[in-house]
Amino acid sequence: MALEQTLILVKPDGAKRRLTGMVFDRLEAAGLDLCAAKVVSVTEELAREHYKALSDKPFFPNLIRYIRGEFHDIRKNKILAAVFQGEDAIKLVRKVAGATNPEQADPGTIRGSFGRITTEGQFENVIHASGDPADAEREIKLWFKPEEIV
Ligand code: PPS
Repeated sequence: MALEQTLILVKPDGAKRRLTGMVFDRLEAAGLDLCAAKVVSVTEELAREHYKALSDKPFFPNLIRYIRGEFHDIRKNKILAAVFQGEDAIKLVRKVAGATNPEQADPGTIRGSFGRITTEGQFENVIHASGDPADAEREIKLWFKPEEIV
């Protein structure tokens, strides 16, 4: 077991449906500690950098539009970014979040309870959670300054 930090984003579908409190409740109930949180206006540049490993996927352009709130009419492209800490936090958050594809997510998970796939095939899966330690380190640095993490 290792003490880890991991990035979560409450995506625009989560914000629109007022699910932020539920996400935090579930992560805290799993024993995770919140150590940073802020509302961020997601620029095109930040979105592209965050998802740069997926830039050649067919769904990439819509992934960028989705995280910038363009499908949910989110003013100023605002989303909530947070860092949670705990033993094996990266795997634990992924477990609480459920599978990336909301249709494959266990019904007890955040994505299984609240995610959906739109008729256009876009995953709306409520939260982003870092996939592994290297991603977590890169993503936390991208979204937060060191002094914002307490
Ligand atoms: S892949 O194809 O294995 O690299 O993709 P995966 O790691 O499962 O997912 C990476 C992120 O891409 C999003 N994704 C999609 N968005 C929209 N439509 C489709 N079909 C789709 N497939 C994958 C997925 O939600 C992941 O984003 P995050 O923010 O990590 O959830």
